[in-house]
Amino acid sequence: MEYKSYASFDPNFLWGAGTSSFQVEGAVQEDGKGLSVIDVMQKNPDITDFSVASDHYNRVEEDVALMAELGLKVYRFSIAWTRIFPDGNGEVNEKGVAFYDHLINELIKHNIEPLVTIYHFDYPQSLVEQYGGWLSRKSIEDYRSYAEFLFKTYGDRVKYWLTINEQDHVVRIPTRLGLTGDDHYEQLRLGYQANHNMCVATALTIKTFQELGIEGKIGPAISYSMVHPASSSPDDVLASKDAMLIKHNYLMDLHCYGKYSLMFWRYLEERNFTPSIEDGDLDLMKQYPPTMIGVNYYFSEAIRAFPSTEEYPIGYQKKALLPEAEAGVFEVVNNENLAATDWGWEIDPVGLRLTLRELHERYNLPIIITENGMGAYDKLEEGDIVRDDYRISYLREHIKQVQLAINDGVRVFGYCPWSFLDIVSGRNGMSKRYGLVYVNREDFDLKDMRRIKKESFKWYQKVIASNGEDL
Ligand code: BG6
Repeated sequence: MEYKSYASFDPNFLWGAGTSSFQVEGAVQEDGKGLSVIDVMQKNPDITDFSVASDHYNRVEEDVALMAELGLKVYRFSIAWTRIFPDGNGEVNEKGVAFYDHLINELIKHNIEPLVTIYHFDYPQSLVEQYGGWLSRKSIEDYRSYAEFLFKTYGDRVKYWLTINEQDHVVRIPTRLGLTGDDHYEQLRLGYQANHNMCVATALTIKTFQELGIEGKIGPAISYSMVHPASSSPDDVLASKDAMLIKHNYLMDLHCYGKYSLMFWRYLEERNFTPSIEDGDLDLMKQYPPTMIGVNYYFSEAIRAFPSTEEYPIGYQKKALLPEAEAGVFEVVNNENLAATDWGWEIDPVGLRLTLRELHERYNLPIIITENGMGAYDKLEEGDIVRDDYRISYLREHIKQVQLAINDGVRVFGYCPWSFLDIVSGRNGMSKRYGLVYVNREDFDLKDMRRIKKESFKWYQKVIASNGEDL
């Protein structure tokens, strides 16, 4: 819908930017940090590992000063669980506690609100070895008590908390659960059990947060994006609805309503994927839903029906990390209406407006955009210039749609592009850059790690200063 006039961003709108611990900190073996599943996973010889990353661990003051120069109102970062509890449980590592204490104090000193992700992919390896990690119910209490420690230590200064980053990705990417082997269907079955345990852990953590009387908001950071039917054929429309349930809504239905919809349960049953559930689990989730949603949005997907055949019987899945094609359900196809990034991620700003509206209509919670951005092969030119006008255009068009969604009635209270500075991309190392700030290193040449403001930094600075008027 078009409007004749529309409202500006709220004066308290939280303009931000984000990172995650393992993608920026480096110092993986320093000051008592324990190993995470990321540190031990098999290295891809073509890209860097995460051992040095953007060297943020040693450059906190410099990085926070740049955030202040940018004008950030909020900074989203994650805490490395294994800096606080090297074994995931048991002994506390005081040096790790002090690191985040310092970071948070630096942010507050510069009037930047900290937005803390409690756990962003870097699960303690020791918990995998102790009892199988998220596959065991023991993981629930370890996560809750780690979060409780963070609330008690930093809760006087941190008002916004994200429980688990992209749980749906964690449960589908075997290395992030600490799983080995290549039995795809068995890993999916285990993934749904891990998913259930994470939902119980999230609800218990929200309960603890509320019992401690922490003032603020808490909720998951989800990867959630509206899908489009590839055509107006009713079969494609139906497949797109099924895809929304299987890719996204099953999880939010658990977090917000403590329910497995009948249809999703049948989907699990027919595939032998049903998790074991204990009495009281679903009630607990229902009783302690999130008080905000963090949404990570990069692209949308077009969906068409994928009828089963003798060759591809019901349930056959293309062995992809994330659900892309499943016989009898749906298949992701190219959307010819959209341009894509160099990695094939289809750029769809209107898809963000649709995503926000869908979340609002189904779950009606305040929303903060915790990730949105464009990975690109940035080029550092003479004179320390990075002309990333493609990124400016990506962010501008998405921010316009956020404003429209707000006018549609969606309660969006903040926007954090991904990422504040160049991070090591999860699957593509340093060649796929996201930052507003360039980090002068390559995959295998660490150079000087100098911080260089990209053109997008200068543009976003004006956006923030004008509260979204000067796009
Ligand atoms: C999200 C993650 O899935 O996507 C980030 O929360 C990640 O950690 C981002 O960096 C982009 O993905 P990638 O694979 O390009 O780094």
